[in-house]
Amino acid sequence: MTADDQKKAAAIRALDYVKPGMKLGLGTGSTAEHFVRVLGDKVKQGLDVVGVPTSERTGKLAASLGIPLSNLDDTPRLDITVDGADELDRELRLIKGGGGALLREKIVATASDRMIVIADASKVVETLGAFPLPVEVIPFGASVTARKIAEVASAFGCTGKMSRRADEYGEPFFTDSENFIYDCEFVRIPDPDGLAAALNRIAGVVDNGLFIGIASLAIVGTPSGTDIIEKN
Ligand code: A5P
Repeated sequence: MTADDQKKAAAIRALDYVKPGMKLGLGTGSTAEHFVRVLGDKVKQGLDVVGVPTSERTGKLAASLGIPLSNLDDTPRLDITVDGADELDRELRLIKGGGGALLREKIVATASDRMIVIADASKVVETLGAFPLPVEVIPFGASVTARKIAEVASAFGCTGKMSRRADEYGEPFFTDSENFIYDCEFVRIPDPDGLAAALNRIAGVVDNGLFIGIASLAIVGTPSGTDIIEKN
């Protein structure tokens, strides 16, 4: 199975956890898109669910598939969020935000009774950090905030290149909430829990892509099927 087949297999298996009447957080990225598409098929067959999207992009896709949509103000408590990840370890700590939607993804996931991660096998790592950690930053004073991020990260054993994300035209990338993202090439994050908390204490940091203690189950597509990683 290709990586994309594995993503799709994980997305299909995630449907096993979806029950009629559920309120679902809908993730962002290519794996989450597979889930939205298979969910759309089920909705066409009569499944009654409501989705809360984690990005404008996912919202458009879900609407085009006829999935009834809501938002967190009208639907503040969700049953399950199903979302992808850029990296996950066996303790279900994640790096997210490769698609730039980390803030809304974290808000939606933490408004859910359960977050289920769907991924292909390449996303499972021993130690987080090979994927550059996205940190979402308010544009005001961003270069000062970036210097503080570097200082704080270095106290947690994380050093490496940090670059402000650019779009395909080389212009600054803006998140759905009009913020910048710094991608931090730490390579190895020895203490994800400590780093995540410390980064979020910096004035100007809105959030970072480490999801700690949020996901409770991962469905991982493998060359031969799907595996489950479950939190003890
Ligand atoms: C979006 O901001 C991300 O958190 C995605 O969930 C993550 O990048 C995984 O994306 P893919 O499913 O495309 O690999």
